Amino acid sequence: MRSRVAIVGAGPAGLLLSHLLAAEGVESVVLETRSREYVAARVRAGILEHSTVELLTGAGLGGRLRERGDEHRGIHLQWPHERHHLDFVDLTGRSVWVYGQTEVQKDLVEAADARGQDVRYEVTGVELHELTTERPHVTFTAADGTAHRLDVDVVVGCDGSFGPSRAAVPGTVRRSWERTYPYSWLGVLADVAPSTDELIYAWHPEGFAMHSMRSATVSRLYLQVPNGTDVADWSDDRVWDALATRLGHGQDGWELTPGPITSKSVLPMRSYVQTPMRHGRLFLAGDAAHTVPPTGAKGLNLAVADVALLAPALAELLVKGDTALADAYSDTALRRVWRCTHFSWWMTTMLHTSGDRFDEQLQLSQLRWVATSEAGATGLAENYAGLPIGF
Ligand code: FAD
Ligand code: PHB
Repeated sequence: MRSRVAIVGAGPAGLLLSHLLAAEGVESVVLETRSREYVAARVRAGILEHSTVELLTGAGLGGRLRERGDEHRGIHLQWPHERHHLDFVDLTGRSVWVYGQTEVQKDLVEAADARGQDVRYEVTGVELHELTTERPHVTFTAADGTAHRLDVDVVVGCDGSFGPSRAAVPGTVRRSWERTYPYSWLGVLADVAPSTDELIYAWHPEGFAMHSMRSATVSRLYLQVPNGTDVADWSDDRVWDALATRLGHGQDGWELTPGPITSKSVLPMRSYVQTPMRHGRLFLAGDAAHTVPPTGAKGLNLAVADVALLAPALAELLVKGDTALADAYSDTALRRVWRCTHFSWWMTTMLHTSGDRFDEQLQLSQLRWVATSEAGATGLAENYAGLPIGF
């Protein structure tokens, strides 16, 4: 097989890249280990930054988003006996949208089908070869068991934290930075109308809690839990009790309405960055190069920002033979990656309890400052609603 670009991974980074490349007249083949149904059903991120919405709209992917998504002006930040609304639109002129990653994925799959995009699901044994030549290739076994070799000009690793692409950069070249956190999130989806108009991020001595949503009838909620937590230990009643306590049920007349829980999972929290994001003819984008803890709602948005830079860079390289943008890709993308890595770490360490009494007082002081000082609030708002692509 021959194509211009091999994209490993059909998550949001991979499918959006194939979409943007097609718009630039660059053909690609996408390889994905999982089934189409599995990829479409994964429950993950829920918040789209201002720039992500602009980019998706500009790429012709904003129809359902604007119809079914929900624009939010800001978030509620709270700790016991206090809840403050931060209005990002007033502070920065930028809003965010509640639109689940599953919906973004559906839109991308629909657009891929409409343009006849070659996406191979359920492939196995993906291996990357000759990445430092101008003729790299990828070998894989298709769903029907046949072996293939795909010859391309460029390989892009969009295969998330566990794919083979990040390890294809030789150990002598790559550098990585990592932080693991001593807590995880227990996330639940519930068939109940959200008890809040906008997301609530809550500090509580028993641990962080968050109230998010997917639609007018579906709520998404999270609780800080110790690493190694077994979901089996968390009955629905225990989840709702903990959420009620930490989110402040009864505080100033606010009530949390419980409902049937349809999914429960535990996600560990980790920060990870690998550089460079390019090695020869291999480019990395999204979670393949970096992971952030979800507290800043940045994972999906960073993946989108990477491919928004990469698509024009590859088009310049492959259509015009101009290497400038491709050469600058890693350094340019990493500026935003480190900004979001810092913001996600900052939100995480400000809101999760660690049992240290001194840290608790610092966290509360920080929260009070962020919620009541315009300078503090603007810093959070600017990072949360998102910096412009190319920052
Ligand atoms: P992914 O979405 O991970 O896509 C990578 C794709 O590559 C996958 O489809 C995978 O199957 C495929 N792949 C892997 N190996 C291979 C291979 N060998 N060959 C071919 N394909 C391969 N972010 C938030 O902001 N909020 C959240 O609540 C949130 N929750 C999350 C929960 C979980 C369990 C995870 C893992 C992530 C979560 N994130 C969240 C982060 C966010 O979902 C990711 O940042 C986003 O999905 C990144 O997109 P991506 O396309 O780079 O990677
Ligand atoms: C979500 O809705 O899943 C979500 C929202 C905001 C976050 C993390 C997750 O910071």
